[in-house]
Amino acid sequence: MAIIGGGPAGMLLSEILHRAGIESVVLEQRSRAYVLSRIRAGVLEPGTVEVLRQNGLGERMDREGHAHDGMRIVWAGRASFFIDVKKHVGKRFMAYGQTNIQEDLFAAADRRKAVVLDEAEDVRPVDVASDKPHVTFRHRGASMRLDCDFIAGCDGFHGVSRRAIPPAVLREYEKVYPFGWLGILSETPPLPEIVYANHPRGFALASMRSPTLSRYYIQVPLEDNTGNWPDERFWTELKARYPRELADAIVTGPSIEKSIAPLRSYVAEPMRHGRLFLAGDAAHIVPPTGAKGLNLAVSDVFYLSRALEAFYGRGSSALLDGYSDMALRRVWNSVRISWWLTNLLHRFPGMSEFDQRAQEFELQYVSSSHHAEAALAEQYAGMPFEEAA
Ligand code: APR
Ligand code: PHB
Repeated sequence: MAIIGGGPAGMLLSEILHRAGIESVVLEQRSRAYVLSRIRAGVLEPGTVEVLRQNGLGERMDREGHAHDGMRIVWAGRASFFIDVKKHVGKRFMAYGQTNIQEDLFAAADRRKAVVLDEAEDVRPVDVASDKPHVTFRHRGASMRLDCDFIAGCDGFHGVSRRAIPPAVLREYEKVYPFGWLGILSETPPLPEIVYANHPRGFALASMRSPTLSRYYIQVPLEDNTGNWPDERFWTELKARYPRELADAIVTGPSIEKSIAPLRSYVAEPMRHGRLFLAGDAAHIVPPTGAKGLNLAVSDVFYLSRALEAFYGRGSSALLDGYSDMALRRVWNSVRISWWLTNLLHRFPGMSEFDQRAQEFELQYVSSSHHAEAALAEQYAGMPFEEAA
């Protein structure tokens, strides 16, 4: 197997395949230090937690991660409400940062002396629709060619793999949102729960990485930049979007990271072309509301590794043939709930009074209906993985 991209999708795929006796080479264009410096979401669905545990990656997560029963939604001027995932789904989710998972994956790869070539340049998947695909690239100045049975495109949204699917075959679905999230990381104790806020000043989110590390976000205009947001201003704005008792409970301190991310929904179909299989952000992007991105990368990799195991173990290509449809069913579920939560919780520029009223009554409905709470809890926890047919 050639795996293009050494983010969570590529590294997890390589790990699971190795445990099944299938060898792979990972080609990553960045340095390891760069990959480890990226700060991303940190909420793991119960299904993700299981996949990590089953593949020997659960030890530190179980030690350092924080299990949660649910999350809270606060909404200017109204009582807050708790979406009880444990009660409705019977499972808890885990707060554990993607950066930690990436570290755990590299540590596991080092232990098994995996071939992970970083700073690989000009990586190109070739002849993917044939029986003999290969990948060309440059590494430490030398031109290389890797012949393989299959290519996994795990190279994120800006990668090259998706572009190997002919335009006549590829269908793309996209939605761009008219705002971004300004996120900060600070070495302060977090609030005990994950709290989403809908406020006339805009959306806000309180999350965590550890008992001493907090992650907060606020909705900002797309054209904004971090230079406009000294820590002082960030904290004042964040607190203004929470009700008094929560604002008072937020512990402020210097930020150790600050960045603005745009929000986008995107799906590429199909996720397979010939012997090329896409997984993770290479095939889809969700806005961070709901923290589905990493979880989808894990479910894609789960389905793909199971299909490859069936192919090498039993000579059956049925699961490989069904991979795209099966993965996309789960992808669209998460794409839909991320879009819905984004609409529910943000103030959109130019929102009409009708839109505002409809949003208000939707929040009212979610907060007062057992059925609505159960539906959100089910999707926040993530839909179960499908059985192999
Ligand atoms: N050649 C080799 N590697 C590449 C190329 C290329 N042309 N283009 C991109 N890459 C690498 C990137 O440097 C990155 O390390 O592919 C990796 C893709 O990793 P991610 O972007 O983290 O995507 P993925 O592994 O699918 O993980 C999804 O990451 O973006 C978040 O929200 C997302 O949490 C989700 C998770
Ligand atoms: C995060 O902790 O970074 C986080 C949590 C919940 C989200 C998005 C991001 O919906």
